[in-house]
Amino acid sequence: MPAEMSDESGADKTTAIILAAGQGTRMKSSRPKVLHPMCGRPMIDFIITAALDAGVDDAVVVVGHASDEVTAHLSERYGHRIRTALQPERMGTGHAAQCALEAVAADADVALLLCGDTPLLEPDALQRLLDVRAQGDALLALLTCHVADPTGYGRIVRSADGQVESIVEHRDATAEQRSISEINPAVYAARLDFLRDALMGLHSDNDQGELYLTDIVAIAALKSRVADCDADAETLVGVNDRAQLAAAEDVMFGRIGNTLRRAGATIATSARINAGVEVARDAIIEHGVVLRGNTTVAEGARIDVGCVLDDVKVAAGAYLKPYSVCQQSSIGVDAQIGPFSHLRPDSTIGQRAKVGNFVETKKVQLHAGAKASHLSYLGDGEVGEGANIGAGTIFCNYDGFQKHRTVIGKGAFIGSDSQIVAPVEIGDGAYVATGTTVTKDVPADALAIGRTRQENKEGYAARIKRRLKAAAERAKKK
Ligand code: UD1
Ligand code: CA
Repeated sequence: MPAEMSDESGADKTTAIILAAGQGTRMKSSRPKVLHPMCGRPMIDFIITAALDAGVDDAVVVVGHASDEVTAHLSERYGHRIRTALQPERMGTGHAAQCALEAVAADADVALLLCGDTPLLEPDALQRLLDVRAQGDALLALLTCHVADPTGYGRIVRSADGQVESIVEHRDATAEQRSISEINPAVYAARLDFLRDALMGLHSDNDQGELYLTDIVAIAALKSRVADCDADAETLVGVNDRAQLAAAEDVMFGRIGNTLRRAGATIATSARINAGVEVARDAIIEHGVVLRGNTTVAEGARIDVGCVLDDVKVAAGAYLKPYSVCQQSSIGVDAQIGPFSHLRPDSTIGQRAKVGNFVETKKVQLHAGAKASHLSYLGDGEVGEGANIGAGTIFCNYDGFQKHRTVIGKGAFIGSDSQIVAPVEIGDGAYVATGTTVTKDVPADALAIGRTRQENKEGYAARIKRRLKAAAERAKKK
């Protein structure tokens, strides 16, 4: 293209065309293949992200099977930047690309053609392909790759002088062509003027009776040199079944972990950190930890073995002891959680606060330095700064119809095994005696005690034991 036709930056306007109309039969699923999750995101998001990171301006996704579901996901996640084009019937990859053209921006110069089921492709490979095409302004450039077992793939056919001449599909190939180990990973960059023409010239005279996108290679080769560049086989794998999905996901988890490690976090190899989770430097993520959603872990925080966090904000220096499970919550600076704590949604744990073993929280705020160290349920309420919640305390928040709030003041002390029947307020500095059932507000600095007085009967232990033993013997004889 002459320079004066390019946009102001001189760069080509590039659109990605992502083929994703296929059903993915081998997934054996009612969910469309490209929406199967990988590292917490629908598989198709990875190739879209790679294309956007490689600098494409926008993308058109060709949808067909379960198109409503795929379209709904794309518009929710990406808005207008990603458009969809419908391929009403599956008539081949060439037909799918034809269907995309109507949705490609009129001023786009170059198309990057991709498939929705290759989540491991990395932006730098795409970038290299776009660069290789741009040098010399080739009509078409493609990635190629050498593999040990090329069965099933399209083969790259080269001329005597090594130029790419055509692609022949495995089922259409001669025995001699089948021995070629250089395969077509189905990643192309094409000038759009060429692509529009070439797609019109496709025929379905092949074994599957389909329009093959691969045939544009021979069409381009007749006009000018087809550019190509080599890519790493591991990053090109297509996901066709759930075993391949699991293998690809493992590779992706490895990449996510390494990116965070290189940025200064310590991540055990068996931790599983989903795409989009943030982990700051000097944070420690131990074995078997699972971090999902919009979870963020700040500097120096430590997440010990087996914790599972969903949408959790962990502040600097916080320590989550083993096997704590937390959802949609935030954990303050230097706070301590666990082992075996369960923070349910909307738990806000203040700085230096402590939530100990077998404590369940929900929609509750623990202010700075508050503690609930053992065996409690704290739902719908607030615990003041420095207050102490004794073992076995229960916020009785639910009357079977409505939820009610418990408010506990600063520095209050709640004795073990207390039931706080909400709605109720316990004032600053108040003291609730062990075993009390609190049903009305407790003023600041007051003592609340509500339990039956203890009585001791001297010498009665032996008598009662004799009586009980006799009863047991009578029962045995019957
Ligand atoms: C294709 C290539 C083959 C290459 C292989 C790499 C063709 C003819 N062959 O074969 O050279 O080695 O990819 O994995 O292109 N799709 C549609 N509509 C259709 C058909 C397919 O959208 O009508 C989509 C699929 O959803 C999928 C992609 O295109 O994302 C590839 O289709 P698939 O049937 O898997 O092609 P392969 O036979 O693997
Ligand atoms: Ca395929």
